[in-house]
Amino acid sequence: MDFPFEPFKIKVVEPLRSTTREERDRIIKEAGFNLFNIPADSILVDLLTDSGTSAMSDNQWAGLMVGDESYAGSRNYFNFEAAVREIFGFRHIIPTHQGRMAENLLFSVVLKPGDLVPNNTHFDTTRANVQHNGGMAVDLLNPAGRDPHTEQPFKGNMDVQALEDLIQKHGRGKIPLVMMTITNNSAGGQPVSMANIRETREVCQRHGIPMFFDACRFAENCFFIKDREPGYANRSILEIAQELFSYGDGCTMSAKKDGLVNIGGFLATNNADWAGRVTNLLILIEGFPTYGGLAGRDLEAMARGFREVLNEDYLRFRVGQIRYLGQQLDRAGVPIIKPTGGHAVYLNARDFLPHIPQYQFPGQALAVALYREAGIRSVEIGSLMFAQRDPETGETTYPDLELVRLAVPRRVYTSMHMSYVAEAIISIYKRREQITGLRIVHESPYLRHFTAQLEEV
Ligand SMILES: Cc1ncc(COP(=O)(O)O)c(C=O)c1O
Repeated sequence: MDFPFEPFKIKVVEPLRSTTREERDRIIKEAGFNLFNIPADSILVDLLTDSGTSAMSDNQWAGLMVGDESYAGSRNYFNFEAAVREIFGFRHIIPTHQGRMAENLLFSVVLKPGDLVPNNTHFDTTRANVQHNGGMAVDLLNPAGRDPHTEQPFKGNMDVQALEDLIQKHGRGKIPLVMMTITNNSAGGQPVSMANIRETREVCQRHGIPMFFDACRFAENCFFIKDREPGYANRSILEIAQELFSYGDGCTMSAKKDGLVNIGGFLATNNADWAGRVTNLLILIEGFPTYGGLAGRDLEAMARGFREVLNEDYLRFRVGQIRYLGQQLDRAGVPIIKPTGGHAVYLNARDFLPHIPQYQFPGQALAVALYREAGIRSVEIGSLMFAQRDPETGETTYPDLELVRLAVPRRVYTSMHMSYVAEAIISIYKRREQITGLRIVHESPYLRHFTAQLEEV
């Protein structure tokens, strides 16, 4: 079977509201051609993010009812701790309300000004938390990962030689830890191989540097290892995860992805000193160590989500659904990043709209066209998000890639929704010359893509 079979039945439904083309034209203009400004009720298929947008199972909803809201020692904390310990194996487990709080706590404790943090590719919040604490975030993605036209099974891998060179150049005293992001979100949701994790571990160990995972999409990464890496076909996802995390010294986790919950996260480490310092800070800014900014019921939903996400039928569907969307687009000649990753399909907007120069935001123009065509919300990952103007020379540097990410929420949409999305994109592709560029009329100094106002050229 080469189609993604949903391994669940639908028990509760949430109606979607259709809009007319005229309504969408008005809404997008009022939103300043920025999809973040559109009320969610005016979106038909929302592919803005896969984070915190999962549908919970009946078992997770039932777990909410056994939430124990005791301030200290809630039973749900112990269930959560047991699930995390079994899968991730780390000694100290510190719940947080989401991933960036785990990052904030970790980097507040381990970084000193001028330190470097190597990563296969930092996610935005990870980079921001490193920089906020005086460090420098260094991306060491392998060369294949940077090329949108090569197809390789593990394009998320760390460039291990570049890591070795960086450590040789700056010394271990400047590098308190190495991060490994699985799957590699900012590089197309591409997976990292177990071999690459072992090699990275070997370099870290030789230099006495701890290795941490940014583990948001660990189960999707483990499924890719099972599917693509020799020697893992007969191992369970749990066994693969246990091996993978055995090479690390800790992790940060946003459970809003592979925890299958709408809110939650944690920080885990084997380092008792770091855990103690993080816990002191946690109590100051987040909450007591057995709830960490969450309700007891949220911890229970997370505990159950971590066990559910290991289910192979679910993961086969999950990765298959993304591939299915990618295949329909690819067959119609729509330029996408290949192979498709674990949580999203990325449209290559530069190849899609070659007539729109980068300074007129081809990615954003494509995202706007998709909303207008079919009420679908995606997100631009290109010049609107990343272009940087040098304040002294006034010159702008543009990113290599102009992408539009179609991030698919977990267990929310059916394969028929994916076909609808594919059809809408193919229809736009057939008359792509009619799409025009955009220019900014208002922007803020930081993270401008969230609030920028644009107009059509
Ligand atoms: C790889 C990665 N790390 C960290 C985060 C931050 O997690 P959160 O949104 O829960 O703060 C995200 C969120 O999308 C992510 O994709």
